[in-house]
Amino acid sequence: MSGIKVKEVAYPTLQCPDLDIQEQFLIHFGMHTVQKTEDTLLMRGEGPQQFIEVCKKGEKKFIGAAFNAESLEDLEKLSKAESFTDIEELQTPGGGFSTKGIDPDGLEVAVLFGTKERDIDKELIPHASNEGGQKNRINEIKRFSKGTYPKILRFGHYGINSVNIPEALKWYNSHIGIIATDIIKVPPPPITEDSMTIGIFARLDRGLEPTDHHSIFWLDANLQSEGVPGLNHVSFEMVSIDDVFMGHEILKKHAKEFNYESEWGVGRHYQGSQIFDYWRSPFKQIHEHQTDGDYFDNTIPPQLIDASGDGDPKNPELGPSQWGDPISATFGNKEGV
Ligand SMILES: [Fe+2]
Repeated sequence: MSGIKVKEVAYPTLQCPDLDIQEQFLIHFGMHTVQKTEDTLLMRGEGPQQFIEVCKKGEKKFIGAAFNAESLEDLEKLSKAESFTDIEELQTPGGGFSTKGIDPDGLEVAVLFGTKERDIDKELIPHASNEGGQKNRINEIKRFSKGTYPKILRFGHYGINSVNIPEALKWYNSHIGIIATDIIKVPPPPITEDSMTIGIFARLDRGLEPTDHHSIFWLDANLQSEGVPGLNHVSFEMVSIDDVFMGHEILKKHAKEFNYESEWGVGRHYQGSQIFDYWRSPFKQIHEHQTDGDYFDNTIPPQLIDASGDGDPKNPELGPSQWGDPISATFGNKEGV
């Protein structure tokens, strides 16, 4: 058995035809340029990760994502799996080593170890809140500089439109230890194991250490993107709720001039519970700002979810929000894969 359990998600790798345009979008989105060469753009957030999005120059597509492993021994073990490469030394900031595999949808999964974290000069603790009568901020005012860009803590998760979701989960489970959190089924009721699966939210297996409700999310490519597998969205965790709303304000301000589109949000999800806001880049690839998601350890078994079971029982809809707009008609379509 060559499988391991990865420690965390690291970054997604996209491909875009113009790195200057992508860089400008990501700056408005809240990132900072780390390195830009003729063919590769590396962007970071405020956290200790050296970079949180990689963009290669070329025809628009989603290349895949990277995860960090626990040890070099784990990397060696995984590199022996049939679908993974030999270990290579990384030349990117922070260095380290990687082995790469290709998943059943043809997307790359890079697993890394030994990348040195960036020194961060200030604490990333948001201002305390005085909500619900809990007085956590006394003799201290809450202020954000008007018009500053939103602050991104880290890369949080990514969504894939898959041609075979159960097969994809099996592959990620056996190679890097990914486990299902919520399995989205479609009616007619009753929803059982045998009902059709249209999506799976899946998380890392960190034992009793809490981890994000989902690090990967698969939706059915046949329903979403005319059977074409690829990117659904990439998602970044913000420092605070204010950063989600400040991000919305800045992207909206620049939308017309720079060709950004609000895809869905601001709202609060059911599965994962995050406050979310999705935007299309000028190349139509969906990027999400989010915060305040659920954290689970590995004692919670997978839940079967009726796709139209949440929301208003008098007005059933797929993928409703707890509050905020309903899912857009174009979310995850072929334009963004
Ligand atoms: Fe998301």
